[in-house]
Amino acid sequence: MLILGIETSCDETGVALYDSAAGLLAQRLYSQVQMHRDYGGVVPELASRDHIRRVLPLLDETLAEAGRGREAIDAIAVTVGPGLAGALLVGAAIGHAIGYALGKPVVGVHHLEGHLLSPLLAQPAPRFPFVALLVSGGHTQMLRVGGLGDYALLGETVDDAAGEAFDKTAQLLGLGYPGGPAVSRLAEFGSAGAYALPRPMLHSGDLAFSFSGLKTAVLTAVRKIDSTCEQARADLARAFVDAVVDVLAAKALTALQQTGMTTLVVAGGVGANAQLRARLRADAQARGHEVFFPPLDLCTDNGAMIALAGWAKLQRGGASAGGAFAVRPRWPLEQA
Ligand code: KG4
Ligand code: ZN
Repeated sequence: MLILGIETSCDETGVALYDSAAGLLAQRLYSQVQMHRDYGGVVPELASRDHIRRVLPLLDETLAEAGRGREAIDAIAVTVGPGLAGALLVGAAIGHAIGYALGKPVVGVHHLEGHLLSPLLAQPAPRFPFVALLVSGGHTQMLRVGGLGDYALLGETVDDAAGEAFDKTAQLLGLGYPGGPAVSRLAEFGSAGAYALPRPMLHSGDLAFSFSGLKTAVLTAVRKIDSTCEQARADLARAFVDAVVDVLAAKALTALQQTGMTTLVVAGGVGANAQLRARLRADAQARGHEVFFPPLDLCTDNGAMIALAGWAKLQRGGASAGGAFAVRPRWPLEQA
């Protein structure tokens, strides 16, 4: 079965063709980062307008790379939430129009289900059940994944997401938007322990997270350092990354302990973070656990994960009927 995946929930336009037997055939991604950079964050209206320009050319390129025609598509999967309402509407409208034109079913996908299943696009793929640590720009959640469609929330952030904290720290350090990768690179040159930053909720005993206090602590520290001193900035970036990684790794271990599981899956943009990957790999090895990450290019938003999640949803009868559709900017994953 050949599934077309379309992702437009935020500032990346992703299109992919996933074959349920052969795997990912081709994918194309257009990032709007350059366009939003001047504003220091995503401008929703600009995002929507740009998605309109990108989807169909990306679709043509993806089909060409896969060597398939539009008529080969068996179903269309499109992100319908959570995300920016206007941006979601663009993808949903185009996806449904293609479905109508081709006479093929359309399935509305939950963006986080896409992230959650993205490690299944790598080899070796994790086996169910597993604990998933979902760390993106908008969400930080710990989930128990029993199987396709069986997702239970174990804990989540009470304020900012981990990716948001990375982006705000990047801004404070003058690294631009979005700054996760830049903070990570700068931290490589920093010395551990040069600054003491809080590890919010590290000992809360539950699987909740909080990152807004950490952001404020970075702000306070930034005001005290000589911003022209590259080493001081690197030391502060290092302190921030160490604090985030400490919390995420500790909570992941707690989740494995509490559920009695031995497999951890990490997904979402922050899952691309080198320091987090290294720490979780080391922790897992020390305890005999297994840890899985999506391929680096599938950590951040993309159409491939949406095609895969669409296929999973079709297996449980999730295609929408009659051509009517709606988007859900806010949508708990358990209801997907
Ligand atoms: O999953 P994603 O592409 O979009 C959302 O669904 O939110 O995640 C984007 C987030 C941004 O906050 C970005 O700064 C962060 O992931 N990110 C990283 C890295 N790559 C992306 N954070 C830390 N280290 C990275 N290497
Ligand atoms: Zn995402």
